[in-house]
Amino acid sequence: MSLKKGEQSRLVSPALPHKLKEAQPSPVVFSRDGISLFNRNVMNLYDEWEEPVVIISDGAYGLKGFPGDPPTPDGLPNWYKAHIAKWSERSTPLTTLWFWNTEYGWAKVHPLLEDNGWMFKSCHIWDKGMAHAAGNSNTQNLSRLPIVTEVCVQYIRKAEFKAGSRTLGMKEWIREEWERTGIPLSKSNEACGVNNAATRKYLTKDHLFYYPPPDAFERLVTYANRQGEPEGRPYFSIDGVRPISKEQWSRMRAKFHCPVGVTNVWREPPLHGKERFKLGSSVVHLNQKPLRLMELTIQISSDLGDMVWEPFGGLCTAAIASYRLGRRCRSAEVVPRFYELAKERLAKAQPMRPHAKKTLEAF
Ligand SMILES: C[S@@+](CC[C@H](N)C(=O)[O-])C[C@H]1O[C@@H](n2cnc3c(N)ncnc32)[C@H](O)[C@@H]1O
Repeated sequence: MSLKKGEQSRLVSPALPHKLKEAQPSPVVFSRDGISLFNRNVMNLYDEWEEPVVIISDGAYGLKGFPGDPPTPDGLPNWYKAHIAKWSERSTPLTTLWFWNTEYGWAKVHPLLEDNGWMFKSCHIWDKGMAHAAGNSNTQNLSRLPIVTEVCVQYIRKAEFKAGSRTLGMKEWIREEWERTGIPLSKSNEACGVNNAATRKYLTKDHLFYYPPPDAFERLVTYANRQGEPEGRPYFSIDGVRPISKEQWSRMRAKFHCPVGVTNVWREPPLHGKERFKLGSSVVHLNQKPLRLMELTIQISSDLGDMVWEPFGGLCTAAIASYRLGRRCRSAEVVPRFYELAKERLAKAQPMRPHAKKTLEAF
């Protein structure tokens, strides 16, 4: 596997705490079959990485969990600001962001995500169950119920289209393009070979709008460019030269493969047993995530060979999941000890067997 020019050669950002800036072991990158782990500050890597189809963010929680994690969730917007700006700059409408945090931490960061063009899709609750609270909860002293959850929040990017000096969302743009042709709205049904679904779903102004699947979009485009007023052509074009193709259209929306029987509540015990990385009897990383949950999110939002970003690697669970699922991945971890362990983990990882993929679908 080859790295893009410059992927290995950036400096650690001055934004990091002094302790982290000193750590520069060599080599700083480890690659296996399309997965690359970097012992670097991710801020210096974003520009070199190929655009992501999936971003898995499991960074600061405002709990002082690792060097640089703010002491309270109030510090989170500031901590994430530069990262979110970079994700926005380098993402496309194909990209899904999975943002892990506590409920309160997410609430603090959500406005910033929205301001940077991330559209909320769904909040998934990781319910670790009573086992997570057992032994820690003296009800005589508590002022709130024991917390046994984290959230993993799904965001996508809105596709945006230029119409002169205006920027339109997909719904508005499709309707405006059709209106420009001078063809009655109802003719969109003839274009798509349906009774009334095309007008109702693809040309509506209300919340019942549906993204036209690529085949339907192609039919609308062909019809509009054949029957529409000649002086307005091309219709449904971005470059003003040719209409958007079916293939281009299919890349204007985040991928989503809905698994059967999975809801937004993920009942999964806290990590234990063989999967939990330990040195002697001590846990190595407090925040190591279950591989199964990482695999679930990656499988839902990408296809074989797609690019996954894991900006805050820790033990690089998303990189391991990507390897197992045949995706490519870029992971960054700034603490050398975690990076070294993640390297070991990736070196030993096994690809997922096809029957195991089916089991995941029935998660
Ligand atoms: C919450 S942990 C991730 C745990 C991971 N999901 C796992 O399963 O092991 C966040 C990690 O991000 C790392 N980190 C924080 N800021 C970073 C940065 N700017 N660049 C690279 N790594 C960073 C921290 O050292 C920490 O290990």
